[in-house]
Amino acid sequence: MTLRPRVYVSRPLPDGAGDLLSPACELSAYSEDAPVPPTVLRAALADAEGLYCVLTDRVDGSLLDAAPRLRVVSQMAVGYDNIDVTACTARGIPVGNTPGVLTETTADLTLALMLATARRLVEAAEAVKAGEWRTWRPSWLVGTDLWGSTLGIVGMGRIGVAVARRAAGFGMRLLYHNRSEAPEARGLGAERVSLEQLLAESDVVSLHCPLTEETKGMVDEAFLRAMKPEAIFINTARGTMVDEAALHRALSEGWIRAAGLDVTAVEPLPMDSPLLGLPNCLILPHIGSASEATRRRMAVMAAENLLAGLAGKRLPHCVNPEVYG
Ligand code: GLV
Repeated sequence: MTLRPRVYVSRPLPDGAGDLLSPACELSAYSEDAPVPPTVLRAALADAEGLYCVLTDRVDGSLLDAAPRLRVVSQMAVGYDNIDVTACTARGIPVGNTPGVLTETTADLTLALMLATARRLVEAAEAVKAGEWRTWRPSWLVGTDLWGSTLGIVGMGRIGVAVARRAAGFGMRLLYHNRSEAPEARGLGAERVSLEQLLAESDVVSLHCPLTEETKGMVDEAFLRAMKPEAIFINTARGTMVDEAALHRALSEGWIRAAGLDVTAVEPLPMDSPLLGLPNCLILPHIGSASEATRRRMAVMAAENLLAGLAGKRLPHCVNPEVYG
C-alpha cells in the first residue's frame, strides 16, 4: 500500500474539491469557517506535502521553513498577494491560483456596484424599510445615469475587459489605462489613455489591477482630487490599493459623488471605520466571486492544481512557472 500524501486545507473543504482530493490524499482541514490561526497552520504544516489555502492565510518564508515536506501551495483565489511567491520559488514550491473562472462573476458584481451607487439602491431600500416611502417625490433619491456616461477602467486584464463588455451594453463610453494595449479593447470601442486623462474624463472609475508594490496606495488624495466631483469610484480588486483616509475625505467633502467597494484595506472592515458612517459609500464583504457555480469551479481548479503538484506534474495554473526551470 502506498502512503497517500498529507494535505492541509485551511478552511472546511469547499463543495466540489472533496470528491477530487479525498481519494488521493490524507486530508486534514481547519474545521471553522474562519481564518486558521497562524500557529495552528504552522503546526499543521510540519508534515504536510500540500497546502490548499485561501486569501486570508499568510504564507511567507517563516511558515515555509516550518513546512519541510511541502511540495505545493494551491490557493482558491485568483489573487495571491497573501503568498510570498518569491519565498516559495526559492524553495522550489509551485503556487497555484484560479484565474479565468471568476472573471465574469466578478464583472457582474462590479456592474452591480456601479448601478447601486449611481442609483442609490441601498439607501432607497433602507428608506422603504424605515417607513420613509410616504409618496412619490420628484427629487427624492435621485441619482445619476450609467447610460451615456464615461467609464474609466484602471487595469485592463481579464476582469477589466469583462467589465468593459458589460458597460458597452449599457451605452457607456469606455476609457482604460493599462501598461499595454489590450487587444480586446478595440472591438469594444475602448480607448487607451493616460491615468490623468482617464481620471479627468470618467464618470465612473473602476479599479481592476493586481496589488503590487507599484499599485499599493495608488488611490490617494491626488488620484481622488483628479476625479470629477460627480464621479463614482469602484473597487472590486484589492483594498490596500486605496488610501481609505483620503477616500473618506473625498466622500465627505464632495471631491467625488460616491464609492462602491467590495474590498477594504483591512478585512473584515473594522466596525469603527469612518467609511461606515457615509451614506455615499457602499461596502460589500469581498463577495466578487461569490456565486455558487463560480465558487465550485474555483474549488475544483484549486484541487486540480494541488493534485498536479503532489504528482510532480506542472500545475495547470501556476503563478511561478520559473520553479520548473
Ligand atoms: C478574490 O478576491 C480572488 O482573488 O479570487
